[in-house]
Amino acid sequence: MTNFSMAANHSIRPVKEDVIFGMSLKAEEAIKRDGFKNIINSTIGALLDDEGKLVTFHSVFEVLKGLSDQQIAAYAPLSGMPEYIKCAIEATFMDCRPEGFIDGVATPGGSGAIRHAIWNYTDAGDKILTSNWFWEPYQTMASEHMRKIATYELYDENMDFNLKSFETSLSELLSEQKRALILLNTPAHNPTGYSLSSSEWLRLREVLVKLSKDENNKIVLFIDVAYLDFCEDEEREFFKILGGLPKNVLILVSFSMSKGYTFYGLRSGALIGVSSEEKVIKEFKEVCAHSNRGVWSNGTRAAMETLIEIYRNETVKEKVMAERKIHKEILKQRAEAFIDSASKVGLDLCPYKGGFFISIPHDDSIKIAEKLVEKNVFVVPLEKGLRFAVCAVSIDKCKTAPLLIKEMMDSLK
Ligand SMILES: Cc1ncc(COP(=O)(O)O)c(C=O)c1O
Repeated sequence: MTNFSMAANHSIRPVKEDVIFGMSLKAEEAIKRDGFKNIINSTIGALLDDEGKLVTFHSVFEVLKGLSDQQIAAYAPLSGMPEYIKCAIEATFMDCRPEGFIDGVATPGGSGAIRHAIWNYTDAGDKILTSNWFWEPYQTMASEHMRKIATYELYDENMDFNLKSFETSLSELLSEQKRALILLNTPAHNPTGYSLSSSEWLRLREVLVKLSKDENNKIVLFIDVAYLDFCEDEEREFFKILGGLPKNVLILVSFSMSKGYTFYGLRSGALIGVSSEEKVIKEFKEVCAHSNRGVWSNGTRAAMETLIEIYRNETVKEKVMAERKIHKEILKQRAEAFIDSASKVGLDLCPYKGGFFISIPHDDSIKIAEKLVEKNVFVVPLEKGLRFAVCAVSIDKCKTAPLLIKEMMDSLK
C-alpha cells in the first residue's frame, strides 16, 4: 500500500527538499528569535533594503495603481499586447538591437520564456546544454518537459569562460541530436555573477558559425538575461553581434519584469526571437503563441499595460530608470564590500562581474552552510559551492560575512 500512487507515471519524481526555501525558513526563525540585526540572511533572490524589506520601485507602482479597472482586469491577446512586445524588445536591446527579423511573445516572466524555448526547440528526451554552475530551476523545467540537462565547464584554468568545453559539449550534443538548445545565463549569471566579455562573445559566435556549417545542425542559443537591468547599459553591446547568423542558428532572449521593474509576483516577461530568416521568426511566433494558449492562455494584462505606459511617457520612463539606478548603485556597493572583505581574509570567490549573487566554490557546501546557521549566517548551499545573495544583505553585513565564512571553512578542514 505504501507504493500506492494516483499521479501519472511521468509525474512521480523523487521528492527533494527545496534547499533555498529550507534555508530561508531557518533564517526567518532566527530573525524571530535573535532579531534581524543579529542575523545575515543571504538566501533571498530579490532586492531587499537594509532592514530586509522587499524593494519596490515607487515609480512603477504609481503607473500600475493609475491603471483603470478594465486595463487590469481584461484578458490580453494570446501572444501578448503588440505594443507590450514592442516595448519589451526596446527595453531588452535599447540601442544594441541586432540586425535581422525580431519578434516576441509575452510569457509569465523569464521562466515562461525558458519553458517555451525548451518545449518548442527540443524533442522529448533531448539534452539541453548549460554551464556546470547553473540556476537549479533549469533542471526542474527540463525534467517537467521530459528533457535532461547536460553541462560544460563554466570556467577554464584562468577562471575565464571555458570556450573549449563549450565547443566540445555543443559539438557532441549536435552529433547526438542534430539540434541543441543552449541556456546561457549572461550577463550577471546566477549563481556566480559571471558575464561573458566582448571578446568571449565574439569567439562564442565563431563557434556557433563553425558548427552551423553542417546544415543538418540546428542551434538555438537562449540568452537568459534575467539580471540585465542591473548591469551597465553598455553591457548590451553583445546583442549587436547576434545579427547576420546563418538560418540554422536561432537566437532567443528572455525579457522579464521581475527584477528590472520589481514585478516579481506579477509574472510578466517575453520570449524574443532573432533570426536572419523571416520564416524562422514567423514560425517562432506561431509555435510560442500556440504554447501560450496551450499552457496559460495569456499573460498578466496589468503588467503589460504598465510597461506600455512607462514607455509611452518619456518623463515616467526617466523616473523609472533613475529609481533603478539608485538600487543598481546600492547593489554595486554591497558587492564591492563583500569582494573587498573576502580578499582581505583570503576567501576565494568565483569571478563576479555583476548581478544579485556571489558564489564561493567549495566541495562540501552543505556542511559549511549548516554550520554557518549556528553563527546566524544563512547562505544557500549549491552543488559546487555557496551562494551569497548580495541583493538581500546590507553593506555592513556584506563586510562581515566573508570572515565568518572563511573561519568556518578553515575550522572544518
Ligand atoms: C537565472 C534566472 N533566470 C530566470 C529567472 C526567472 O525569473 P522570472 O520568471 O521571475 O522572470 C530567474 C529568477 O530568479 C533567474 O535567476
